[in-house]
Amino acid sequence: MSGRLASEYSSWKKLQQIYDTEHSKLALRDLFAQDPQRFAKFSREYTSSDDPSVTFLLDFSKNLITEPILASLLDLVREAQVEEYREKMFNGEHINTSEDRAVLHVALRNFDEFRINEAGVDEVGKVLAHIKEFTESVRSGEWKGYTGKTINTIVNIGIGGSDLGPVMVTEALKPYAKRDLKAHFVSNIDGTHLAETLRESDPETTLFIIASKTFTTQETITNAESARDWFLATAKDKAHVAKHFVALSTNTKAVTAFGISESNMFQFWDWVGGRYSLWSAIGLSIALVIGYDNFEQLLRGAHGIDKHFRTAPLEQNLPVLLAVLGIWYNDFYGAQTHALLPYDQYLHKFADYFQQGDMESNGKSITKGGQRVNYQTGPIIWGAAGTNGQHSFYQLVHQGTKLIPADFLAPATTHNPIAHSKHHRILLSNFFAQPEALAFGKTEEEVRKELGPNASDALVKSKIFEGNRPSNSIIFPLLTPATLGALIALYEHKIFTQGVIWGINSFDQMGVELGKVLAKNILNQLEKPEDVKGHDSSTTGLIHYYQKWRKE
Ligand code: F6P
Repeated sequence: MSGRLASEYSSWKKLQQIYDTEHSKLALRDLFAQDPQRFAKFSREYTSSDDPSVTFLLDFSKNLITEPILASLLDLVREAQVEEYREKMFNGEHINTSEDRAVLHVALRNFDEFRINEAGVDEVGKVLAHIKEFTESVRSGEWKGYTGKTINTIVNIGIGGSDLGPVMVTEALKPYAKRDLKAHFVSNIDGTHLAETLRESDPETTLFIIASKTFTTQETITNAESARDWFLATAKDKAHVAKHFVALSTNTKAVTAFGISESNMFQFWDWVGGRYSLWSAIGLSIALVIGYDNFEQLLRGAHGIDKHFRTAPLEQNLPVLLAVLGIWYNDFYGAQTHALLPYDQYLHKFADYFQQGDMESNGKSITKGGQRVNYQTGPIIWGAAGTNGQHSFYQLVHQGTKLIPADFLAPATTHNPIAHSKHHRILLSNFFAQPEALAFGKTEEEVRKELGPNASDALVKSKIFEGNRPSNSIIFPLLTPATLGALIALYEHKIFTQGVIWGINSFDQMGVELGKVLAKNILNQLEKPEDVKGHDSSTTGLIHYYQKWRKE
């Protein structure tokens, strides 16, 4: 993150040379055949030093690497000074240079172990205590709505990092949920999102959680105002808002101006990035759904990975290994995307979550020093829960023209062992089979043998799987709160490591601004055709067409 171009590093040049001379010879079939120890060499088991039940295996043997390639990739990590920048992050240095901010989501799950000097860090425990007290009173029924009824519905209103983390985690940890507390998440400015949620809610028993770091985000504030209007249409008296609206924010002034008192506000700090904020007060909805103790387990699981990331040697360091493998494909093989494929229905939002986590962090083309990069940065992140993806996009992953590195994730044990875990065994047989098929494929010889001598050439060719498609597999005992925390932190630090190597600032998001500004201007022009000014003919034509057809 020196702001230097990664392509100037000698280790980068060496990797380019290795790629140019060796990539056509790197075949997973041969690499496995030549080395019976390949799995042992290229897999690592993580076990938390605090809690041995938090453990997982990362198998990265099905990657297009050899020991010298891995060594060169780790040289790149050293040359880019990832370890130094990691220390700067943990020490609270302002590594988010464009916004002059520290990057301290690790401080939210630190439990006083690391010493970090930054304003607000010493208040983390106080906010956690507030979350604990509040969530326990709502969950126990002690907290009453304005007519004396207990709360049975929560509606989190937020967008981006103030929505995706809580959504993903509450889905992932449903087995730990208080099932009689319905949780809704409203993010989209499209009124349909709020309207459909309110249809299922009762003002007397609903708690609205307004989640916004800035408390200025147009979608969130508009949704929050409409929710308040809906509530007051029944409750009438503004004083009742206090029983039904709380805020999660860094902006006390805007929160109180909205009508939420400071005592109903859960604070966090500017050093918490939106896409890294589920560990902060933004996690209030998570704590309401799964209970504070489970929320704390989530944090502790992440903290275990923080310690691992900070201290494990690079060869053993799981976020670093994931990061360099990603760089190998992204920057040398020209892969454009990276798939996250959890074989766990509870993780069906995992890829959505890391779309923001990764793409808003590393979707940059200017280094911290202001130079345009001459290499690829963040990949397109996508994915879906297995086995659904197999019946949709896997065809392209197996036989298409693109190289799609993928991470497969699965729990060894299911929370729902229906039919004596038959479903889970079938699910896992697919989890094991897909990386195997991707890596080893099916040769022409194998296809001909299977089809017999009368098969046409075209049919034979269409049934060949070239293989040699790389993947990582991550398997863990059970999706518990602490294990989920560890998995999320694993990917957070992968993203950090890649950002440092690429020399970019992973912690700002300037690219979301332009569209917001243009939309504000257009909003003022939507009434009359003669107001539509200053646009290209395409935008003008589109707005005019809308004006012709709109009813309201
Ligand atoms: O999309 C831009 C962004 O700033 C994200 O980084 C952030 O998570 C989201 O908007 C919501 O911001 P806020 O929490 O301030 O409403």
